[in-house]
Amino acid sequence: MKARTLTLVLVLGSVGLAEAGSVPVRARNSMVVSQNAIASQVGASMLIGEGNAMDAAVATAFALAVVHPSAGNIGGGGFLVYRSASGQAVAYDFRETAPARSSAEMFLRDGEYDPRLHHDSYLAVGVPGTVAGLHQAWREHGKLPWEQLLEPAIALAREGFMVTDGLARSLRTALPQMSRYPASMAQFSHEGDLYEAGDILRQGDLADTLERIATEGPRGFYEGHTAGLIEKEMQRHGGLITREDLKAYRAVRRTPLRGTYFDAEVLTMPPPSSGGVVLLQALNILERYDLPGMGFGSAAYLHHLTEALRRAFADRARYLGDPDFVKDMPVERLISKEYADQLRSTIAPRRASVSTPSSFEWRAEGAETTHVSVVDNERNAVSLTYTLENGYGSKIVVPGAGFLLNNEMGDFNAGPGLTDESGLIGTEPNLAAPGKRMLSNMTPTILVHGGQPLLVVGSPGGRRIPGTVLQTIVNVLSFRMNVQEAIDAPRIHHQWLPDLLHYERNGFSPDTLDILREWGHNVNEEDSWGAVQAIGIRENGRWLEGGSDRRQPDGAAIGR
Ligand code: DON
Repeated sequence: MKARTLTLVLVLGSVGLAEAGSVPVRARNSMVVSQNAIASQVGASMLIGEGNAMDAAVATAFALAVVHPSAGNIGGGGFLVYRSASGQAVAYDFRETAPARSSAEMFLRDGEYDPRLHHDSYLAVGVPGTVAGLHQAWREHGKLPWEQLLEPAIALAREGFMVTDGLARSLRTALPQMSRYPASMAQFSHEGDLYEAGDILRQGDLADTLERIATEGPRGFYEGHTAGLIEKEMQRHGGLITREDLKAYRAVRRTPLRGTYFDAEVLTMPPPSSGGVVLLQALNILERYDLPGMGFGSAAYLHHLTEALRRAFADRARYLGDPDFVKDMPVERLISKEYADQLRSTIAPRRASVSTPSSFEWRAEGAETTHVSVVDNERNAVSLTYTLENGYGSKIVVPGAGFLLNNEMGDFNAGPGLTDESGLIGTEPNLAAPGKRMLSNMTPTILVHGGQPLLVVGSPGGRRIPGTVLQTIVNVLSFRMNVQEAIDAPRIHHQWLPDLLHYERNGFSPDTLDILREWGHNVNEEDSWGAVQAIGIRENGRWLEGGSDRRQPDGAAIGR
């Protein structure tokens, strides 16, 4: 089938065109989109004077650590893809690392795998990367003084901010899980009573820690008082992280993966995130189909999308891990057009493939990571996704330091050889080892066309992230949606195993689902997922379109 050309698509979304669906936020100069309106505003305020997209992204990220504590963080890690207006592209990897005393067997107790150790314990905490990563990205590309980027976050923590309905609801779910941790209860409840919408949440210890980071840089976190507080909490409860682990932490500058979707260049995150590889593999497969001809939401489109994701996820499980430890990852081959041709030739037009072996499965994913997209008036662009892993991470607030620790060690595989029918994975590339980074799905991505950024996009959603980013891209480029429509459009997910085609409730017609069943798909209804924050750049850079996912509360695109 002949694919349509991108030129057709790029004229769409121009201001003045009648639109069928939601209208994005439009602006000429700059745009900041995040999952919290206060944080987006903080970022936008950095762009009024000398500040650039990197300053805005870093300030937004620090603000999110205060006002969006379920995923915004300084105790977690993430990835950032940056493209300067001049075309330079770089990725920052500030994924957490396994402490020096980690091992592949660390989640076993008396030889038995213990999921609580893996996901919900002091052993689940990885050495945080966020402060080092944001600082390095700012040092190499920011313009404003470092302290200025932290000022709004410090004020929000010290003076407090108004709790939204969204935050109140999220704390209501999280609080019972925090009951083991007195410092967490003290920070996120009124002595055990829930915060309600309209209350003011103040976080004095967090303000003090942010002040140390503002005045001392990363040393204010990885050394001295803050490092001492982390180490003390770890020692008291059998955790592994030491002052030495903290001092040794380094963010890594990496070369973004480059692919294409028609004539748009796709810049995305390389391992230790699997997100970019999965995204490019699936885009490469889909590129040769006439998706507009099939139509958005048609059984034909959903079938081909499913088959593309199924194949990309099978390769993910087989090959990917931390590139500093796994030396034989065939990334270039996986993201090549030739390999996509091979995979495509195995897809039948009207018959679901079968995923084997049946021994691979993954845990259900929440929506607790968060993404920031920024484009400034020069058209520098930042795409940043970071996380604590679960909502509120390990649920452990470091006493005296006021921030939550991640539970990212849960993203390592369970243990050597532990692949089994119950849903564990024990494959080699992603086993824990000292200093190693756990495999991620985060997919911060920037598309470029004609020398200008075209789309800045990312999302939370665990293993659903690459497919969510992919569908947003395809919706904009192939289905001609504006950015907000592309985000609002219903999604599907497939991750090889379990062999289920998940779809968002009320998103697709029963007739379409019947056709998919007839073709052999195991369709499975679910509530929504993801929280895409995206910016479309239109008419060769003249206009910006911001879209924030309405599946989650409190997000906002702030344009100027
Ligand atoms: O790095 C990862 O892929 C996961 N730790 C992200 C977790 C996440 O997105 C949780 N919410 N959906």
